[in-house]
Amino acid sequence: MLDHLFDRNVAWSQKKTRDDPGFFRRLAEQQTPNYVWIGCSDSRVTANDVLGLDPGEVFVHRNIANVVHTSDMNILSVLEYAIHTLNAEHIIICGHYGCGGVERALSGESSALVDHWLQPIVMLYRQHKKVLDAIADPEARIDRMCELNIELQMRRIAMTPIIEQAWIQGKTLHIHGWIYGIHDGLLRAIGSPISSQEERDSLASIDARVHEPVEPVSMVRRHAIEAFAGLDAFEPNEGLECCTSPVPLHLSSHPRRV
Ligand code: CO
Repeated sequence: MLDHLFDRNVAWSQKKTRDDPGFFRRLAEQQTPNYVWIGCSDSRVTANDVLGLDPGEVFVHRNIANVVHTSDMNILSVLEYAIHTLNAEHIIICGHYGCGGVERALSGESSALVDHWLQPIVMLYRQHKKVLDAIADPEARIDRMCELNIELQMRRIAMTPIIEQAWIQGKTLHIHGWIYGIHDGLLRAIGSPISSQEERDSLASIDARVHEPVEPVSMVRRHAIEAFAGLDAFEPNEGLECCTSPVPLHLSSHPRRV
């Protein structure tokens, strides 16, 4: 049964070995991933593929809607091992647009998944139902909740004693919030990483974030902004009537549909 998967496995192993004869021998000796990926279980969002990384380069935990529960022994064990044994320095909470888990949280249904696992998202939605329901397009509303969920989970993970203790011990640890676009294969950063207790404590509350969203920024767009940043001081003189604003206005549009 499922022989075709074993066939694919053999083909993959052979290709890896052909490309790099020492690949599996090196991996068997140790893993030293510097990145921890906390993502959704969605089959379309696989950490290594999205990041273009080989086995051994990212330590992965996935669950439905990339939720951080402080009573979840699974995620707590992953964090402890990653921080104290692997000395990983970057924790990436990565959600994705069109997340089915987030959609279920907004559905008003009752089930173990909705009432328990997705409860933090359900509560955030209920609390701000008026503002979120004002987004007329249901897809856009779900996408907005996907972004908010990442900000929420960043705050929740930053409050865990494991992370707090690591910072107290002087460990370098950055918590990143990213969102992935299944429609274009691109990652976007949601705000800045959290790198210390002070940064965590100075964050605006998640309730405030509902009203003042961070605009997700893809690297493609960031490169463009940086490329044009040096032109900010540029002011067209009177002789150059052809010149308009040196900063392309389209860069400020929402990146999701780009
Ligand atoms: Co999902």
